[in-house]
Amino acid sequence: MRINISVIKADLGAIGGHIRPSQALLDAVGNHIKSKSKGLAIDWRVTFTGDDIAILLTHNRGIENEKIHRLCWEAFVAGMKVAKEQGLYGAGQDLLKLDFNGTVKGLGPACAEMEFNEREAEPFLLIAADKTDPGAFNLPLYLSFCDPMHNAGLLISPQIRQGYVFRVIDLSPQDNERFIELKSPEEIYDLAVLLRDQERFAIESIVSRATGDTAAAASTTRLHNIAGKYAGKDDPVMIVRTQKDFPGSGEALSPFGIGHYVAGFMRGSHYGPLMPVKQNSDISFFDGPPIVSAAAYSVHNGKLTEAADCFAQPYWDNVRSRVARKAEEIRQQGFFGPAMLGMDELEYTQMAPILKNLEKKFNIKK
Ligand code: F6R
Ligand code: MG
Ligand code: MG
Repeated sequence: MRINISVIKADLGAIGGHIRPSQALLDAVGNHIKSKSKGLAIDWRVTFTGDDIAILLTHNRGIENEKIHRLCWEAFVAGMKVAKEQGLYGAGQDLLKLDFNGTVKGLGPACAEMEFNEREAEPFLLIAADKTDPGAFNLPLYLSFCDPMHNAGLLISPQIRQGYVFRVIDLSPQDNERFIELKSPEEIYDLAVLLRDQERFAIESIVSRATGDTAAAASTTRLHNIAGKYAGKDDPVMIVRTQKDFPGSGEALSPFGIGHYVAGFMRGSHYGPLMPVKQNSDISFFDGPPIVSAAAYSVHNGKLTEAADCFAQPYWDNVRSRVARKAEEIRQQGFFGPAMLGMDELEYTQMAPILKNLEKKFNIKK
């Protein structure tokens, strides 16, 4: 059976700052999907990671389908109303433009979608992060698809050894979206040259060269490109199909054990280590640390199983302790040097007018 998996997510407001959505907000989004998805979607789940609500849908209406996008959009608008009624902080934060005209693209919500012929057994991961941006997935995707240190399939599996095609998006503001396609294994060094710059480039999709099948799809929204100013971080979501011609689920999860430093954290202006957390986890220390959750599903004829919560397994307790220490280390130096993002990112924040004002006070030495 040919199916689509779509995940569309938005920050609609949170309890006590940017901590987590209220139950009433989650219910508003969930109830909307429940009542309006009949005949549109095959199955659905609503979950949250920090202050972001993700709607996962299976359907067979194709990618960027107006009805599917409208369903999610209207669920978010229903959620925003409840967030406003409850006085949640940042109510409707990611709904930057309210004139829906076909898809959620360019309006604020993040979106990752794929279409494929269901395999006999079809496992996939829904990975969602908060207090960071799409470039946060560059390193884990690179390592799980290109590096035998994380993916033993690159040594053992004839299909995996044929490599993948990576579609990389240029995130800098421009009129038309620019992208490049690079192939592993022969172009992995070029790929690394782009992916190292997590603010500028992000992976949108990965396709198997053995079968032409999509392995991964990730969101690449940048809110400041839409709003022209800092409007919250672009907390990303992605879908990664696993096993057989793709990395095993454990290989896709393995790089998250690093707790690599990503952009985000407090005021979206700092670097912090990405902490793997359980499903439906809150935000706390310094509006962070940046977090990532992973739900494993199996799907058959579009019907989803319950989620297996990948980072709830005891192995990750140890990772979390180490990542907490990494967070403390970098927080020791507060605003200084590599603890904070570079000026091109901070340009979108209130830092820009302050610097402009200081400019006027500089003197020239005679
Ligand atoms: C992170 C985020 C927060 C806020 C911070 C200040 O994405 O949105 O870290 O930037 O809590 O928020 P304000 O200025 O709204 O009080
Ligand atoms: Mg928020
Ligand atoms: Mg968020």
